[in-house]
Amino acid sequence: MDAEGIAVVTGAGRGIGRGVALELARRGFETVATMRDPDAGAALVNEAAPLPGSLRVQRLDVTDPSTVDLPPGLRVLVNNAGVEAEHPAFEDTPLAVWRRMYETNVFGVIEVTRRAIPLLRASGGGVLCNVTSSSILAPVPFYGPYRSSKAAVSAIGESLRAELGPFGIRVLEIMPGPIATDMFENSGRPPEAIQHPDYRPMAERYHAGRQGIEAMITSVEDASRAIVDAILDDDAPLRVGCDPLAVGLLDAWRGQPDEAFLQSMLPAWSDGS
Ligand SMILES: NC(=O)c1ccc[n+]([C@@H]2O[C@H](COP(=O)([O-])OP(=O)(O)OC[C@H]3O[C@@H](n4cnc5c(N)ncnc54)[C@H](OP(=O)(O)O)[C@@H]3O)[C@@H](O)[C@H]2O)c1
Repeated sequence: MDAEGIAVVTGAGRGIGRGVALELARRGFETVATMRDPDAGAALVNEAAPLPGSLRVQRLDVTDPSTVDLPPGLRVLVNNAGVEAEHPAFEDTPLAVWRRMYETNVFGVIEVTRRAIPLLRASGGGVLCNVTSSSILAPVPFYGPYRSSKAAVSAIGESLRAELGPFGIRVLEIMPGPIATDMFENSGRPPEAIQHPDYRPMAERYHAGRQGIEAMITSVEDASRAIVDAILDDDAPLRVGCDPLAVGLLDAWRGQPDEAFLQSMLPAWSDGS
């Protein structure tokens, strides 16, 4: 697609969303950077001022439908807003944690997307870009709520790819690996499962492995360039990584039968018994 028309990004106050909003304006889009607290966008507006496109800030909380007000002329929606939470063992994870996660990561995406589709159709097509996570490819222990919320969006995207294709709306799923944001930094703590004696050894192994990923972090700027490249590329596949770790994981996942891929991952967390 050409870099013209209106692009909306959710969760653009910081992190990947902020980077993608700036990159969209850099390529020429009329960008609407939406966020819960518009005050967080003041510096963003200044940063975008010299860019070829434009950028304005608008309040949007994906969990509050009354704040979802998308503009006519919409050509690109980036469903980026997301949350991560604590990681106890599954048996210690209260329903409230799942509900909180799904409220933003699943129902928030559903509501914004539902509102966007008629506008994208009226524009003659465009791109619906969902930011999920490369973690859904790996059987990461203690990440059930987060990974399943992202996997739900992944499945929704597959259905929409079929449903919206005839209208010229291309669905794109970005599956980030480790990107240098607050979310990634916060996920560096030991998982709460470490407090349960029966899960402690696995939680410790998970945490030790997580330290190894520190060397593979990608900057928000590099990830954002890769994301907007994929938005503009009409031949991009449905699932795209925006950093070397995610690209490698996707390649490995595509190259092996499902069970063989899972078996290749599990030893990282089990004690081999
Ligand atoms: N960073 C990574 O390594 C990584 C890896 C895989 C996937 N991802 C995914 O990438 C996306 C962006 O993550 P990030 O790393 O940039 O995270 P981040 O730095 O924690 O930023 C999250 C963004 O989402 C916004 N948000 C949260 N709840 C919201 C709501 N109800 N309505 C609107 N905005 C909301 C936050 O706004 P506030 O400032 O108001 O809190 C913030 O702008 C997420 O979907 C995440 O799951 C990230």
